Amino acid sequence: MLHLQSTTTLHNGVEMPRFGLGVFQVEDGEEVYNSVKWALEHGYKSIDTAAIYRNEEGVGRAIKDSGIPRDELFITSKLWNSDQGYEEAFQAYQASLDKLGLDYLDLYLIHWPVPKQNKYKESWKAMEELYNDGKIRAIGVSNFKEHHLDDLLQEAAITPMVNQVEYHPHLQQKSLHEYCKQHNIQLEAWSPLKQGELLNDPTLIEIAERHGKSTAQVILRWDLQQEVITIPKSVKQHRIHENADIFDFELTNEEIKQIEAMNKDERVGSDPDEMNKY
Ligand SMILES: NC(=O)c1ccc[n+]([C@@H]2O[C@H](COP(=O)([O-])OP(=O)(O)OC[C@H]3O[C@@H](n4cnc5c(N)ncnc54)[C@H](OP(=O)(O)O)[C@@H]3O)[C@@H](O)[C@H]2O)c1
Repeated sequence: MLHLQSTTTLHNGVEMPRFGLGVFQVEDGEEVYNSVKWALEHGYKSIDTAAIYRNEEGVGRAIKDSGIPRDELFITSKLWNSDQGYEEAFQAYQASLDKLGLDYLDLYLIHWPVPKQNKYKESWKAMEELYNDGKIRAIGVSNFKEHHLDDLLQEAAITPMVNQVEYHPHLQQKSLHEYCKQHNIQLEAWSPLKQGELLNDPTLIEIAERHGKSTAQVILRWDLQQEVITIPKSVKQHRIHENADIFDFELTNEEIKQIEAMNKDERVGSDPDEMNKY
């Protein structure tokens, strides 16, 4: 039976929680401190931040104050676009560690491929070195489509352990998911709730009512059943609790098919081929 602390084994043997808290668009200071604090108190083990969220300090304080042994937690951060490049990546990694007040990360991701900038392969070399030196437990990418992965894998010595991408019932990324499975890359869902846009969908409401659950819980349960890691964001304590309460019910094959039929290949965030901000 899956539970809040269930993990999946990445291709290098590291155990990564299948569920965690995202902190995109959460203000540094009290807001992020409380979100992380409430999540950790409730039993969350995984926190997903990024340099560009500018809240690593608050995340780090909440981790420290939780008193939870570091090796029981799984902390992810990401290399921002303007920090890509070989030398720059080392500096950015250290800056994230310093802000978080940690001496290692569990997972470090290249945030976006930024094809116009074309620096993700040299950034990856730095990430590989940090990994080989034992400074990061796992390395991965974010927002990489198949062609970005194909290109990276031509030169990479290490296959990314994780690809974190926009993933929800309106953007099911079937072929990318298949590609990742074939290469032992774990898929992780960002904006699993489509930033709230999916919560009034009639199909999801019908399924939710059948199980006595909320639509958010149905989506997050669907992620688990698709073997996709999920990291919903909330700054509200009751929702942080609600989102984690997905381990006592199961969607039927019929319900999975109903959700499958909702795909529209529709994004709430940028298309990775067009994201050239740095
Ligand atoms: N790699 C990337 O490029 C990338 C991009 C985007 C996001 N991410 C990561 O993925 C995480 C999740 O994505 P996201 O923050 O974009 O969006 P999300 O988790 O899909 O949705 C968050 C929104 O839904 C609301 N919400 C959360 N739980 C709810 C519930 N049970 N009922 C009703 N509303 C609920 C939240 O409001 P309240 O906070 O007011 O509850 C917030 O407005 C991020 O925080 C970040 O860590 C990564």
